[in-house]
Amino acid sequence: EAATVHEAENATISQGVVESDHAGYTGTGFVNYVNVVGSYVEFTVDAAAAETTALTFRFANGTTTDRPMDIMVNGTPLRSVSFPGTGPWTSWRQTTVEAALTAGANTIRATATTANGGPNLDSLTV
Ligand code: GCU
Ligand code: CA
Repeated sequence: EAATVHEAENATISQGVVESDHAGYTGTGFVNYVNVVGSYVEFTVDAAAAETTALTFRFANGTTTDRPMDIMVNGTPLRSVSFPGTGPWTSWRQTTVEAALTAGANTIRATATTANGGPNLDSLTV
């Protein structure tokens, strides 16, 4: 199936704010995670059938310090993903992980695991 772009600014946000002050995002903005452990963005993604598929996060990290996040799928921890520095905050990169989805609605949550919070998150493509 064709991949769908899920904009972070339309997702469920805990300890984050929608901003648009760094160019290059898609949609109407991106999520600026509050720089704390535990801030998260949760997407709801529909799958027509159970499938293992690519989750592609588009992000920017204008620092030189990795901002790893734990990815949870339907409440189950999947893995930690690295969100390293991208150069300036206007430089957006993608990182992809594989996940097993169930038929119907799936929740995909990306939670910051360091006191620096997450990167600025633009979207999740599934
Ligand atoms: C800057 C930047 C934000 C970013 C923040 C951070 O304030 O403008 O977009 O989220 O740094 O370090 O997390
Ligand atoms: Ca931030």
